[in-house]
Parts: sequence; structure tokens; C-alpha cells
Amino acid sequence: AQKSLAPRPPMGWSSWNKFATNIDDTTIRQIADAMVSSGLRDAGYIYVNIDDGWQGERDAAGVLHPNAHFPDMKDLADYVHARGLKLGLYSGPGPKTCAGYEGAYGHVAQDARTFAEWGVDYLKYDLCSGEAFYNTAETVYATYQQMGEALKAPGRDIVYSLCQYGRFDVGSWGRDVGGHLWRTTGDIEDTYAKMSSIGFDKNGVPNHTGPNGWNDPDMLEVGNGGMTHDEYRTHMSLWALLAAPLILGNDVRDMTPETVALLTNSEVIAVDQDPLGAQGLPVKKDGAAEIWVKPLSNGKAVGLFNRGETPLTITGTWTELCISGASVRDLWTGTETSAGDGFSYVIPPHGAVLVKVK
Ligand code: GLA
Repeated sequence: AQKSLAPRPPMGWSSWNKFATNIDDTTIRQIADAMVSSGLRDAGYIYVNIDDGWQGERDAAGVLHPNAHFPDMKDLADYVHARGLKLGLYSGPGPKTCAGYEGAYGHVAQDARTFAEWGVDYLKYDLCSGEAFYNTAETVYATYQQMGEALKAPGRDIVYSLCQYGRFDVGSWGRDVGGHLWRTTGDIEDTYAKMSSIGFDKNGVPNHTGPNGWNDPDMLEVGNGGMTHDEYRTHMSLWALLAAPLILGNDVRDMTPETVALLTNSEVIAVDQDPLGAQGLPVKKDGAAEIWVKPLSNGKAVGLFNRGETPLTITGTWTELCISGASVRDLWTGTETSAGDGFSYVIPPHGAVLVKVK
């Protein structure tokens, strides 16, 4: 079973979407500083996760070392911790990771101890070349359980992120192997087509998600430049309704005010982080229009989406959506109106309106 390390969907940053393997100690320190100065840390984004590309070689005793871009992982962890942030690393059960770096194969317990000694707080464990050995639900379960147990042994609290691209029915057993989040999909890309296909359709089985164990539709692309502002608003609105982990994927050292506003909207983050931990569901689909509802501890969040290429007016009544409430607050504009009989929203192409009814 898992440790209770993720009562809410984890929030942080990861190097992968923006930097891929072009990462080093200096960049990660600058990112950590920017997480603080930009207000992202105080908005809740506390994990700084180094994805694939930090690994070096094993020594004669089998101990894994970082590569030359990361001269001292313990010192880097101390730097991150001193800023009120937590450090994440990436590995996998195979001999090699997806980008061809050293994996944990044959060294699972040893690597877990090494991570704990460095002060790592989060591990993303990615199947990749492990699939040559582990390719059934039973064997994948076993290898993820092995690392889950190994992470507990040193006694350090380490969030455990499972990555098998939504395969092997991981959501039904992720908690049992100690996992706190598990991917529901292949990799996201910085395009509306990819983001929306994941967010609307490859978001996992809703009743698998909840406190300490979350469906993970992959990391955010907000701020990376491949989508419009309306499309990124859809991205954030959907991930919040899904109670998805919010792992930033952009260069937080260099953000427009619009990007900062999208990422730090406290009312949108509160939808994602609601203590109930319920995953929102579509309640109405009509052509390009979709309406999604997420129960909250103090009301309901409603997302109205236009998946089409032209502006769309979505009208309806709260009653037909089985929602009762007195007030409707638009979480992106901050305007509050009393909940009348009906609603009518004009939504731009690929856009979204996110409201809270209570
Ligand atoms: C896989 C994962 C990505 C990323 C890369 C790193 O593709 O799904 O999220 O971690 O590996 O190589």
C-alpha cells in the first residue's frame, strides 16, 4: 500500500516538455529560483522534477552516479530544499530509460537508497526498455511493486509516479504497489490536437482517482508556445476538472504575464486541488460543445468547452445539469452572477469557460 504523500494532486515542474535531455545543474537551480520569484511555489507548485537525462554511469560497486552535467546531486537537492521546494528524479525498471540512459535494472534497492541519500522527494519510474522483461499486467505490477517497496526501505517520503503510458490497467493497481499517480496516456505534445485528445478522451478511469492516487494525463504544456491563449485556458480548465497532477512543462524563468496568470489562478488551482479528489465527468456532448462537471467540497465546478473551429454559443439550464446553487462565478474572469434559470456562454474556437456554482 502507499504512504499518504499525495492527498491532493501533486503540483510542480518537470524538465521534460521544454528541455528534454538538455538539462544541467545550473538550469535546475535557476528554475528553482524562478519558481519562487514568479510566485509559482506559493501558488502550490513545489516539486522540481529532473526528468530523463541526468544519469551517468555505475561505479564498481554498482552505485549510480549523475552525469557530468550534475556534479553533486545532494548539493542540488539541498539548494532546492532551501527554497521550500522538493526534488524529483526520473528512472525506470529497464536497463535503459526512454532516452537511453542508465535504468535501475538489477539495482532497484541500491538506486532507491541512493535517491534517498541524495534527498530525492519524488520518483517518476518509466517502463521503456523494461518492457522487454515486463510486458504483462502481472510482471509490470511486480516490477513496479519492487521499486515501490524499495522506496519505502530508506524511510524517506518519496512520491512515486508510475509511467506506462496508460497501459496494463495501471489505474486499478497503482495504489497497491505504492504509486501516487499513474499515466493514463502516451506523451503529451504542445498542440491542441494532442492535448485535447488526452484531456477529453484519455484521462483514465474516474473512480481510480482520488486522494493519494491520481490519474495522470501527463504534464502541462502551458507557456511553451504551440497553442493559443484560449487553447491553454482549455488545457488548464480540463486538467483542473480532472483533478490531474499539475506538473508544469515550460521555462518558468521566462514567462509572459498571460502565462503566469493561467498558471497561478488560485480559484482554478482550488478546483484541481479540491479535497474530495473527484474527477470531473462529461455530462453533455453536442457536436463541438462539451459540458463537464466536477463535484467540489463546496459546490460544483462546470467546464463548458468548444472543441470546434468557429465560435459557439452554449446555452442550457443548471437544473438540466442537476446543479443547484445561488451564485455562478467565472473563474477565469472573476465575475460573479446569480444563478438564474439558464445560462448562455459564447465560447471561442478551442476555448473554455470554467465556472463554480454554489
Ligand atoms: C517517456 C515518458 C516522457 C518522458 C520521456 C523521457 O516518453 O512518457 O514523459 O519522461 O520518456 O525519455
